[in-house]
Amino acid sequence: IIAAFQPKVLAGRRVLLTAGPTFEPIDPVRGITNLSSGKMGYAVARAAREAGAEVTLVSGPTALEIPYGVRRIDVQTAQQMHDAVMVNVAGQDLFVAVAAVADWRVANASGQKLKKNADDDTLHLEFAQNPDILAGVAALPQRPYCVGFAAESENLEQYGAAKRVKKNIPLLVGNIGHQTFGRDDNSLTLFDEQGHTSLPRADKQTLARQLVREIARRMAS
Ligand code: CTP
Ligand code: CA
Repeated sequence: IIAAFQPKVLAGRRVLLTAGPTFEPIDPVRGITNLSSGKMGYAVARAAREAGAEVTLVSGPTALEIPYGVRRIDVQTAQQMHDAVMVNVAGQDLFVAVAAVADWRVANASGQKLKKNADDDTLHLEFAQNPDILAGVAALPQRPYCVGFAAESENLEQYGAAKRVKKNIPLLVGNIGHQTFGRDDNSLTLFDEQGHTSLPRADKQTLARQLVREIARRMAS
């Protein structure tokens, strides 16, 4: 009921999002991931659809159901997420990067399951840096309106403002990692060129609806 009565602030707009963690293989049965549940990204996807947008969600592995009316593309690695975004970005009006993307992948991943070795109880992994999906989209000549998310552990006000400028995006949404990962509620700080404002702690769907209105207002001006 509440969903159907959201103001249609994104009517006719096309929205692309990333959500969830990525999974970077070590071998065919193991890998490296992070504590992102995908709840915030899925809530934003749902809120964008409620607001009248046509929504494509590129999602890392999560336990969540596809939000009603949303087109979901499932990926595992950061590279796959990058490729899916780049294939789908043309014609989008808004890109919201909510995913917790692994900054590095295992460069010496094994094609076979690794076995314990009687003579050596260590394992050496090498890492290579993943592409920055948000920076890639923000650098496109015909770029959509770009919104980033940043999960910090401290100094949110300084890091958030600096990250927005470094990423060259109009809006960055900051939160504190250990106060959001896996939880149903969160609080957000919005950084734009005017400064920062806060959306106080609430459930993620409520915050996502507020965020969509904040984004739509900035896209219109
Ligand atoms: N992001 C991305 N691709 C990456 C890394 C990050 O698209 N390879 C996006 C995230 O989805 C998020 C934003 O960039 O919207 C900020 O992510 P964050 O990890 O906070 O920024 P980094 O530039 O990776 O900086 P840090 O060294 O603090 O991790
Ligand atoms: Ca990062």
